[in-house]
Amino acid sequence: MEKQIVLLPGDGIGQEVIESAKQVLEAVTERFHHTFTYHTHDIGGAAIDKHGTPLPEDTVRACQQSDAVLLGAVGGPKWDQNPSHLRPEKGLLGIRKQLGLFANLRPIKGFDQLLHASPLKHEVVAGSDLLIVRELTGGLYFGTPSERRNNGQEVVDTLSYQRHEIERIVDNAFQSARLRRKHLTSVDKANVLESSKVWREVVEEKKADYPDVEVEHLLVDAAAMKLITNPRQFDVIVTENMFGDILSDEASVLTGSLGMLPSASLREDGMGLYEPVHGSAPDIAGQGVANPLATILSTALMLRHSFGLEKEAAVIEEAVQQVLEDGYCTGDLDVKGGKQVGTKEMTRLVLERVTTQDATHSIMTC
Ligand code: NAD
Ligand code: IPM
Ligand code: MN
Repeated sequence: MEKQIVLLPGDGIGQEVIESAKQVLEAVTERFHHTFTYHTHDIGGAAIDKHGTPLPEDTVRACQQSDAVLLGAVGGPKWDQNPSHLRPEKGLLGIRKQLGLFANLRPIKGFDQLLHASPLKHEVVAGSDLLIVRELTGGLYFGTPSERRNNGQEVVDTLSYQRHEIERIVDNAFQSARLRRKHLTSVDKANVLESSKVWREVVEEKKADYPDVEVEHLLVDAAAMKLITNPRQFDVIVTENMFGDILSDEASVLTGSLGMLPSASLREDGMGLYEPVHGSAPDIAGQGVANPLATILSTALMLRHSFGLEKEAAVIEEAVQQVLEDGYCTGDLDVKGGKQVGTKEMTRLVLERVTTQDATHSIMTC
């Protein structure tokens, strides 16, 4: 199979983890005789420094012409005081919007070997396996641009949705639930927000099309609590952009670290951008200690969702599992007695297993 892949390393540890992920992809393509061509482009702070904009046109064009995009992370203290249009994060929001990537799948599955790396009780975390389906191109992130009024005394952000935008993400979540344990939790704030009332109406209407899926509604504050007191009650969660952002970082605690969570951002035709859920981690950038597994696991999602290469995806996921079973971890994982390694060594350990081991089953179901 021949594919064109755009790499957008971005800022901070984004550079380090993309290098790891690329090496893993290269090992997979060599083993399974595929040809992937990589095109690296700028986004975020790196693009601001080089081109004066967080999302150069050239980057957008390259992504549009590619079969899939792999992104590291954007942002950092260097650009935190920039005006809104010159913030690295604008580049990330821009590429999601311009590519129409409305469905953000964030699978959260604790590897057995990391159960004790979570600060939560073992018996709470054990067996948790959920998928957050986050709406990614609407909601509070993409409302009418706010401006400061009354000499800066008043400011407005708007949470706006077209009905069809809610319908398509809800459909996507129902379809994901069908592939899993057939349970869907829709998370909203329908006791306060008008947009959430419409969200709930849409979920209720769509229920008829998916009679095999059990549906539950939960308010976002209660959902935040239940996520870490009874995570096993969740299978698929569907929610608004900002709620999904917050809940997914919270849910990462189940897996032991934010450095373990991959994600896929998709549009209807299967085109996708793949990225770790974490950010550029300025506190550890450049030290060679970042956990590359979230990005490596994101490449598995790419192979599965954009290219239909299920076996290759499973080989990567199993390789990660094996490395953890063999007792290796990075500094972000609080594993007692674990053999702590840096980014490069962790990558080498995964590569070793990707080239030699067979996969029996896929690990991230989404
Ligand atoms: P962050 O996710 O970068 O870091 C939060 C904490 O988790 C830090 O202590 C960090 O060291 C740790 N961490 C994150 N990923 C890790 C990894 N792979 N290995 C080991 N430790 C890891 O969030 P933040 O500090 O709030 O944000 C830093 C910058 O990143 C900000 O500019 C923010 O806007 C940006 N950000 C970008 C993305 C993205 O590009 N998708 C996501 C979140 C935050
Ligand atoms: C994420 C990040 C981004 C978001 C930021 C960097 C704009 O936190 O991908 O989760 O809020 O979507
Ligand atoms: Mn986030």
